[in-house]
Amino acid sequence: MKTMNVAIDGPAGAGKSTLARAAAKELGFYYVDTGAIYRAVGYHMWMMGIGPKDADGICRFLDDVNLSVEYDDDGMQHMILNGKDVTDEIRTPLMSSYASGVSAQACVRDFLLDMQRELARRHNVVMDGRDIATVVLPNADVKIFLTALPEIRAKRRFAELQAKGEKTTLEKVLSDMKARDKQDSTRTVAPLRCAPDAVK
Ligand code: DC
Repeated sequence: MKTMNVAIDGPAGAGKSTLARAAAKELGFYYVDTGAIYRAVGYHMWMMGIGPKDADGICRFLDDVNLSVEYDDDGMQHMILNGKDVTDEIRTPLMSSYASGVSAQACVRDFLLDMQRELARRHNVVMDGRDIATVVLPNADVKIFLTALPEIRAKRRFAELQAKGEKTTLEKVLSDMKARDKQDSTRTVAPLRCAPDAVK
């Protein structure tokens, strides 16, 4: 039976996960946060002492990455990396930049493509990320591109980090976000962009 797929793309802090989670709950679909999948790969590389731009090291150490996505009773996605739940560990500013770095590598994107497509083939999903409508699920039933000004997005992210007790400043969050936007939208493989048939 064909599943229903909703794709939501956009830059960090635009509110993709808030929208995707609410839509998934309303529709009774799974919410797949693909950023968390890239974060888990980044976390593995960091643990192994591999830099976020070390193309050779990243591609080599991918062989040791065993990833799966699990859901708890509240529909919350958990990232399982080599048998360990790393859902909380991957939510730091360092892991944001690591995820952005490793995600620019073609070997990483190839490695994760089947996993994302398989989730969408098996379940009705609302999937959010950067390249869902353009690469992962080009035949998605609904495609949304969600964005906002960097200053607005940074404010949201700053408030989230403050609520978690992270010591940072709005200026730092804004400059990190702009660097990540640039890296994610200018990489050669599957850059962040709005699909021509997406609702913006
Ligand atoms: O959505 P997020 O901020 O958790 O994503 C972290 C990084 O992962 C982001 O900077 C780029 C990368 N990413 C990607 O390249 N493609 C996706 N579909 C999702 C995330």
